[in-house]
Parts: sequence; C-alpha cells; structure tokens
Amino acid sequence: MKKYYFLSGMAFVGLAVVLMSSSSGRPDDRTGAPGAVGNCGSCHSGGLQLTTVTIGVTEKGQTTPVTKYQPGKTYTVGLLIGGLSTTKGFQSTVLDASNNKTGTTSNASAGAKIISTNGRDIASHSTPSSTGIWSYDWTAPANPTGNVTIYTAGMAANGNGGDNGDKGATGNITLTLDNSSATSGISVDLSVYPNPCSNELILPANTTSANVYSADGKLQNPIISENKINVSGLSAGFYYVKGQTSAGQTFTSKIQKI
Ligand code: HEC
Repeated sequence: MKKYYFLSGMAFVGLAVVLMSSSSGRPDDRTGAPGAVGNCGSCHSGGLQLTTVTIGVTEKGQTTPVTKYQPGKTYTVGLLIGGLSTTKGFQSTVLDASNNKTGTTSNASAGAKIISTNGRDIASHSTPSSTGIWSYDWTAPANPTGNVTIYTAGMAANGNGGDNGDKGATGNITLTLDNSSATSGISVDLSVYPNPCSNELILPANTTSANVYSADGKLQNPIISENKINVSGLSAGFYYVKGQTSAGQTFTSKIQKI
C-alpha cells in the first residue's frame, strides 16, 4: 500500500513537471516582450547554438514583405528560428505601442498553437521543430491606435531533454500603421444639405446616382445634375433621397422641402 502511494505521488510530480516544462510549449508569457516573464534564455542556457530569430510579414496570400499594415487586413507572420540544432521552439505575440494585445491571432501552422496568457494571444511551438519555420496569421483591428510590434523569442536546444546546453534569442519588428486606404478607419460624410431645402439640395461629392422618393415611397422626378438636385418643383413635405457613391457606399437621407 505504502509503495502504491509513493508511486502515484511520483507520477503526480512527474505530471506537474511535464505540464510546466516547455518541450510542447510554455504555458506562460516568455516572448521577451515588455511585461513578459522573461524569455526562453531565462532557463535554457549554456549552449553555443548561434540561435537567431527572423520575422517576416506579408499580406495573407502574398509574398512581398511589408513593414506597414492597414486596418482590418490579415497578415501572415513567418518565423525562422535559426541555429545549430534540430530541436527548436518559439513564442511570438503582436502588441500595440502600450504593450497590449491588439488585433486577432489565428491559424498557427503545423507544430504550433495559440495560447492566451498574460492578457495576450501568444503563438507557440507545440512540437519542437528541426527547421525552426512556423507561421501564424494576424488580423489588424478595424480601428487601430498606431504602430504594432511583433515580439518573438526562439530557442535552439541540444535535444538532451533538459534546459542546459541550449541557447535562446529574441527579436522584434515594428509595423507602422498605414491609414491611407480610401475608406478604412475614416468615416465619410454622406450628408445632404441644406435640410430643410427650398431650391437646391447638394449631394455628397462622389455621388454617382441618386433618386428622390415621397414619404409614401413614390419615385419623384426632379432634375438631378452634377451633385445637385433641383427641388424647386417638389411640393412642400418630407422626402427620402437614396444614392450611391463611387466608393460603393449607399446613403438614405430624410429631407424636408419648404
Ligand atoms: C521556466 C524555465 C523554462 C523556460 C522559461 C523555457 N523552458 Fe523550455 N524547457 C524547460 C525545461 C525544464 C525543459 C526540459 C523538460 C521538458 O522537456 O519539458 C525544457 C525543454 C524544452 C525543449 C526540449 C529541449 C530538449 O533539449 O529536448 C524545448 C524545445 C523548449 N524547452 C523550448 C522552449 C522555448 C521555445 C522557450 C521560450 C519560449 C522555453 N523553452 C522556455 C524550462 C524552460
């Protein structure tokens, strides 16, 4: 009986060591980012593996590296942990300038996973790799606050199953916010004016088509030219103006003819 308890106790300690160890990925934030609890090199040391961390970002499905990102777009973060080792691992996270999680992390490649810890989404190896190549997707928030930085910690182990004789390294790259895309993140003014109106109604600058309907839904036929509607012929009352812009946005405005 005593022996049985002793053995199951050992099994429990063994299980705890496996859960807290990192051959299948650390459970804690060891990305080396500000606010992380260190990096891989905090434990793994003593090796001469010449570990390197290379981070490359492309728009998802594209091959050209980018250094800027646009709101709402999805990017693929490619990682190469280099070094003289066949047993490599990593952790990587995308943070805003305040070191907070930003956007959405998804689609970790084979041998990797995404964990949530320390208020952050962290991509991590789930199986050590000999190539040291992994990737994951990052989707920028629709309304970003500014530049983002991808922090990555890598480790090249000697494969002895321990944390000695190994070497860690860290790297990061910053993507600057590109807000130039026509409509993203910028609200376009689709108002018509003056309202109420008596002679002319001015439409949004890039209007390509517009119609005027009476309050009970009947199509009216005022003269529409350029970005103006001649409303002088309409009888007093409420109308709806529906239109579309060259950017594909639609608008509906309730107007009053006086
Ligand atoms: C708190 C200490 C600690 C930290 C931090 C740590 N590890 Fe480990 N790691 C260990 C220990 C202990 C082992 C051996 C037991 C095991 O295999 O899990 C280990 C084993 C490994 C192994 C297998 C090593 C071999 O030689 O077979 C890999 C790969 C690994 N860790 C990757 C990482 C990566 C990548 C990081 C950083 C993101 C990291 N570790 C951070 C403690 C740590």
